[in-house]
Amino acid sequence: MTDSTQNGSQPVIELKDVKVHHHARGGKLFRPNIVKAVDGVDFTISRGETVGIVGESGCGKSTLASVLVGLQAPTSGDVLFHGKPAIKRNAALRKEFGRSVSVVFQDPSTALNPRMTIQDILTDPLQIHGIGTAATRAAKVGELLALVGLPQSAAEVTPSQVSGGQRQRVAIARALALDPDIIVADEPTSALDVSVRAQVLNLLSDLKTQLNLGMVFISHDIQTVRYVSDRICVMYFGRIVEQGTASQVFDTPSNDYTKKLLGAAPSLLHI
Ligand SMILES: Nc1ncnc2c1ncn2[C@@H]1O[C@H](COP(=O)(O)OP(=O)(O)OP(=O)(O)O)[C@@H](O)[C@H]1O
Ligand SMILES: [Mg+2]
Repeated sequence: MTDSTQNGSQPVIELKDVKVHHHARGGKLFRPNIVKAVDGVDFTISRGETVGIVGESGCGKSTLASVLVGLQAPTSGDVLFHGKPAIKRNAALRKEFGRSVSVVFQDPSTALNPRMTIQDILTDPLQIHGIGTAATRAAKVGELLALVGLPQSAAEVTPSQVSGGQRQRVAIARALALDPDIIVADEPTSALDVSVRAQVLNLLSDLKTQLNLGMVFISHDIQTVRYVSDRICVMYFGRIVEQGTASQVFDTPSNDYTKKLLGAAPSLLHI
């Protein structure tokens, strides 16, 4: 069985045996130190499913996320976008990829331009993609704010004038501006105060259902991943060592590392 047929839809992105190797500093000329950040990963993501990626710091989660959103070309392997090779993209495909796949980073304070108003931050992707008129773009900003549970008045202020949780809502609204198929969220709640983590998680999972998005949810906290994911991939040293539904992974972990991860630190989320 493959997950690629889930919901009867073709995966939006498919990775086949993707490797990202870095030459680390300090390596010898004839024996370079190679960091195998991602080391042979097969992965699919379709609309309507949330796939969680969990693993300890340095196991390659963010590198995998960069490949998924097109920020990092793999050293080897294939990236398919709607079934078509997407590594050597032409301008049109790059634009289509950028519209279809968006990303939410860990820290909204650095991900959002502090000098722009929230109105401008949300209008920016629409302008770059040449979507709509000034009036339709302004209406879209209003819709986006409502979608992520922010008051319309938030449009007039800058990111530093709202709370950390609200800033992450702005980042999520920006990620939704182009009506993407997939959102890749890399530790989207880790930089937030514990008290607002659950709210932001709930927002992401509500949006995923409401908009039939595909979501890749990355975290080092397996309890958080369990809470939102339909399917979980456990990463260890650049590889996916276990994959399955939340209950398969939690109730019958087959891999020793997964067992260790499950026995490790309790969730930081109080849910
Ligand atoms: N540009 C680079 N050059 C060399 N090594 C790199 C580079 N980028 C990442 N790495 C290494 O690749 C490995 C995977 O890094 P990555 O950031 O993907 O891990 P991660 O799972 O996201 O970790 P964290 O949970 O801390 O965010 C690490 O060992 C990292 O040091
Ligand atoms: Mg990371």
